[in-house]
Amino acid sequence: QEASAAEPERTFIAIKPDGVQRGLIAEIISRFERKGYKLVAVKLVVPSKEFAQKHYHDLKDRPFFDGLCDFLSSGPVLAMVWEGEGAIKYGRKLIGATDPQKSEPGTIRGDLAVVVGRNIIHGSDGPETAKDEIALWFEPSELVSYTSNAEKWLY
Ligand code: PPS
Repeated sequence: QEASAAEPERTFIAIKPDGVQRGLIAEIISRFERKGYKLVAVKLVVPSKEFAQKHYHDLKDRPFFDGLCDFLSSGPVLAMVWEGEGAIKYGRKLIGATDPQKSEPGTIRGDLAVVVGRNIIHGSDGPETAKDEIALWFEPSELVSYTSNAEKWLY
């Protein structure tokens, strides 16, 4: 199959403070890498509460909004952009259902998390959110476009 045209699909993925503190960075990155997705941006940051509120602005009326923003801003977060065909939807599949009690075994949350408030990872839920979240977390110059040798065997 041919490589996709001009705009490759990109998704925003963040390992939340619980995932970083539990030493799951390599485990999680490895799952995206082995699938065949390509890392095009990465940084470790401690978001401010205001920044967390921007990231989760869609949820501002939910009862857990404040706790969720406190949690995201409580420590280092590994912010990433992953690229590849179907990266947004399939990234969510790799992550598993929001509530780890309902995520299937084999998914990141199914294998590595227990409760929804500590579900270790975030992934964009659609193309618009992906665009917005990538723009919120990264400067355009932080996104690296490159061809990996694996691509001719993947596509
Ligand atoms: S919802 O309820 O349909 O809006 O939930 P969802 O879109 O799946 O989740 C949106 C984000 O809110 C987090 N979430 C929670 N955090 C703490 N407590 C509770 N009860 C809770 N419910 C949902 C959920 O993990 C999503 O955050 P991200 O970072 O995207 O995983």
